[in-house]
Amino acid sequence: MTGVFVVFEGGDHSGKSTHTALLAASVRAAGYEVVQTREPGGTAAGERIRDILLDPATGDLDARAEALLYAADKAHHLTAVVMPALARGAVVVCDRYVDSMIAYQGAGRVLDVEDVERVARWATRDVRPDLTVLLDVDPRRAVHRIADKDRLEGEGVEFHERVRQGFLALAAGDPERYLVTPGMEELDATAALVHDRVMRILSRRAATLDT
Ligand code: TMP
Repeated sequence: MTGVFVVFEGGDHSGKSTHTALLAASVRAAGYEVVQTREPGGTAAGERIRDILLDPATGDLDARAEALLYAADKAHHLTAVVMPALARGAVVVCDRYVDSMIAYQGAGRVLDVEDVERVARWATRDVRPDLTVLLDVDPRRAVHRIADKDRLEGEGVEFHERVRQGFLALAAGDPERYLVTPGMEELDATAALVHDRVMRILSRRAATLDT
């Protein structure tokens, strides 16, 4: 696949949506086709799965059932949106991907992390991002500020702290593919850093395709 796959990960209200939009706009302004998308969601079926997962009216869900719904969204989103865009050479900028499942359903829900990773990789055919930007924010400063919490946001601070540590462990395991940065602080500087990193990947990709 000739495109470039960039994913933003992080806790709730870490600034992912803002950074996803900023990067999509700046890469588009540099002349590239950009597909901005998100998980769960990004497709009609995915948005319906998202409603089930996030609506507090859903109530308690068995942790495995929750994981499988996230995996179903990922499998469909990958083949319907991500792979076709990468195949035609676009830059895909995605708000959350496999790491969210490992961090939330694995570390957060305390399912076996390796089991969750295996299901998530199976669902996504082991397609991995070229770059994952982890927006690292202390959950004590992020989640408690939200007034109308969805089903996941409503979990306690210990849950969100486990999620944070889950993300940091993934980044530590593969530093080449990760950029770890504070979320909403220094917004412009962080956006510029991410943009430069993506531009470097794009020029390296162009050089490889030329040879
Ligand atoms: P968002 O509102 O940040 O887009 O994400 C929706 C919620 O879903 C958020 O609390 C994180 C959670 N989530 C998981 O638990 N597992 C996953 O695989 C994904 C993609 C999101």
